Amino acid sequence: MRRVAVFVSGGGSNMVALLDDMAVPGHAAMPCVVLANRADAGGLARATERGVPTVVVDHRPHGPDRAAFEAAISEALTPFAPDLICLAGFMRKLTAGFTDQWAGRMINIHPSLLPKYKGLNTHARALEAGDAVHGCTVHEVTAALDDGPILGQARIPVLAGDTPQTLAARVLEQEHLLYPAVLRRFAAGDRTPLFLDNTKT
Ligand code: GRF
Repeated sequence: MRRVAVFVSGGGSNMVALLDDMAVPGHAAMPCVVLANRADAGGLARATERGVPTVVVDHRPHGPDRAAFEAAISEALTPFAPDLICLAGFMRKLTAGFTDQWAGRMINIHPSLLPKYKGLNTHARALEAGDAVHGCTVHEVTAALDDGPILGQARIPVLAGDTPQTLAARVLEQEHLLYPAVLRRFAAGDRTPLFLDNTKT
């Protein structure tokens, strides 16, 4: 049974999707801890409701010293002995010092069809570009932001009249399907990329 640490910064809707799927009997993974970089992250309460231990590692006391923040994360994780890390709305960049240590064992969900639109404001950028198709990506985390090997993507059509908000809502629905499905494979050691295509409907 692979032990999964989930990192959140906000509401944790992707975390909830992962935890609820791992609760299904037969899953190759179990959640061992939810870690947040903010004590006010809504995901913490949702993890506690599901009986999953939580820990807060606030990045602010470390200022610009990312290595010190990451050392605090590693120390906080030790008692929970995770095998894998899932970043789920975790909004802090991680340095090579941390990503190298977790190479091949840490994944993230990003709200665009990578390699398009790395970084923030992905939905507005897709609309500004006039893209007909948009979506989300699960990828392995490397030191380069939003750049690691792709493990899965879900595609949706961009609709006339879409705003960044309406697009984000439809992408988020797909995130909640894609991320658990990719984690099931990844936890079983299968790195075959998974593609969900909703553009034909
Ligand atoms: C989502 O857009 C996700 O793609 C990104 O963070 C946002 C919030 O995710 N990684 P969540 O609701 O906190 O899981």
